[in-house]
Amino acid sequence: MAWYNYTGVECMHGSVIFRYMLTDYFLKSDNIFMKNTAQIKLLNEIGFAETVLMPGDPLRAKMIAHTFLDNPVLVNNVRGIQGYTGFYKGHKVSVMASGMGIPSIAIYAYELFNFFEVKNIIRIGTCGALNEKLELRDVIIGTCADTDSAYINQFGGVTPVCSRELMDCAIKIAGEMGIKTQTGKLYTTDSFYNLDENANKIWADRGCIAVEMEAAGLYLNAMHSKKRALAICTVSDLPLVPDCPGNTVEERENSFTDMIKIALEAAVRLGE
Ligand code: HPA
Repeated sequence: MAWYNYTGVECMHGSVIFRYMLTDYFLKSDNIFMKNTAQIKLLNEIGFAETVLMPGDPLRAKMIAHTFLDNPVLVNNVRGIQGYTGFYKGHKVSVMASGMGIPSIAIYAYELFNFFEVKNIIRIGTCGALNEKLELRDVIIGTCADTDSAYINQFGGVTPVCSRELMDCAIKIAGEMGIKTQTGKLYTTDSFYNLDENANKIWADRGCIAVEMEAAGLYLNAMHSKKRALAICTVSDLPLVPDCPGNTVEERENSFTDMIKIALEAAVRLGE
């Protein structure tokens, strides 16, 4: 698609024309599924499933794909953001890393939702508990996500919410699996190391039950793209508890399993 074909009027809508400039198809292939966008380059015709699980860490994406999926195939590796597609209980499922922070997850969510026909993204990550009733390893389902990130301004500053359908599905599955979940508002921050030591406390007082760094960016893109998103997070630290050691690396690995199983089962049910 030649971007210079656009009229002056269309050019005024900067984001629209920019989007088309970035999206091109491999000229050597007739296969429309081998797309090449700004930050995702499909390595083969397998492409992405309708549902993509998104951990932050590329090595965790690899681990999940190889541990839980049948026939996992690497479908993207731009900047080492590994994306795999395979099968879980016979259903095609993808898992791709989001990287850290809103700007990173927002790029991948935007491209997956708008260029790769992805319908559902389920973030699976860690969070810090901001509510005293929460404990290490608790599984949190983010109903919505407040943020102090300027990224939200372009969307009018609304508090982005998760997909109700995805949330209900995840809660039901967790109940069936005997996994205890807590639902509530997340605080998505841009600053892991915040110079304001009170930042977490301020957002806790505003009703946020946990802090992490991606959910708001994901939810905003899902709402904008009219797709579905959910963030499921496992508590890895208690930032409001002084000198709390947090989880060890091994504990983090193990506590991830509950969350992954919920997300994979949700992918199956969404596809039915
Ligand atoms: N802050 C921000 N992001 C996080 C935290 C935290 O304490 N824990 C896990 N992700």
